[in-house]
Amino acid sequence: MDEEILTHLREHPSDFLSGEEISRRLKVSRTAVWKRMKRLRALGYEIEASTRSGYRLVRSPDLLTPSEIKPMLKTNWMGKKIHYFPTLDSTNSKAYQLALNGAEEGELVIAESQEEGRGRLGRSWFSPPFLNLYLSIILRPKIPPHQAPLITLMAAVATAEAILKFSGLAPLIKWPNDILLRDRKIAGLLNEIQSEMDRIHFVILGIGINLNMDAKMFSTEIRNVATSLKRETGEMVSRKDFIQTLLQELEDWYTIFLKEGRVPAVLEAWRKWAQIKGKPVKVTSFGETLVGVAVDIDSDGALILETMSGEKRRVVAGDVEYRR
Ligand code: BTN
Repeated sequence: MDEEILTHLREHPSDFLSGEEISRRLKVSRTAVWKRMKRLRALGYEIEASTRSGYRLVRSPDLLTPSEIKPMLKTNWMGKKIHYFPTLDSTNSKAYQLALNGAEEGELVIAESQEEGRGRLGRSWFSPPFLNLYLSIILRPKIPPHQAPLITLMAAVATAEAILKFSGLAPLIKWPNDILLRDRKIAGLLNEIQSEMDRIHFVILGIGINLNMDAKMFSTEIRNVATSLKRETGEMVSRKDFIQTLLQELEDWYTIFLKEGRVPAVLEAWRKWAQIKGKPVKVTSFGETLVGVAVDIDSDGALILETMSGEKRRVVAGDVEYRR
């Protein structure tokens, strides 16, 4: 019902809507309306109340509820259905469950905070409330499973483009899908897949982006290697505005990716953002450490590396460190 009241209040941005009118529209008592207004105020909505004229919405908080996100969303299908939660263990886990139960392509799971936010390689993702973005999107691409890593590259490109469009700052992608700003990590992607040998059932595209965390909010272990958009620009970021840009980029890039013969376009964009060629790297992959120079990524998104002894190695999963 909160959503309903907000919809009615938004219809009259500069006018008051009488309590009587609201209670009539929602078929509830005036006292119930008053209680709901109180709850909305507690959530950060600034609602002016006048005994004679009724209620007027003055300002909305930067929440990620469907009623805050949807009115501005310009995508055709991405994020049109939103599953919103004040808190979750992990948006990826929730999206996975929803996908198992038949959720459709483009459905979005979003949480204000995560209690067990997950990162790659069994790491955790720090997910404090109301500051950042933690979201997962359900995709059902008709591609062979070996191409699934390309979805990660595509999403990294979309995220990098969104950061640039939104802030004017150009990030760097670190293979496979860390997004860095001024050498510190600002965003990470965790993609999970359910498939048969020759068919993908669904992919869960999980994205975490640090938007409004201050340096001191990061634990001392990650303070020097992690950052947020606010830390880099000095300005608070509107999360609901940022997510519009992000969802639009994701829809556009995913559409490019699915078009026949357009995989090279995604790889090209990824290469542009990663500038990986010739970088001295140390790669940890399945317990093995490889030191060498990055050569490129191949058409499946695997990293090609030339080791110190001149041997070419193909790495499908792992962690990269840039050597100086
Ligand atoms: C990484 O860089 O290690 C990946 C981090 C991915 C974090 C996001 S936050 C939303 C989604 N839900 C999760 O539990 N993880 C991803």
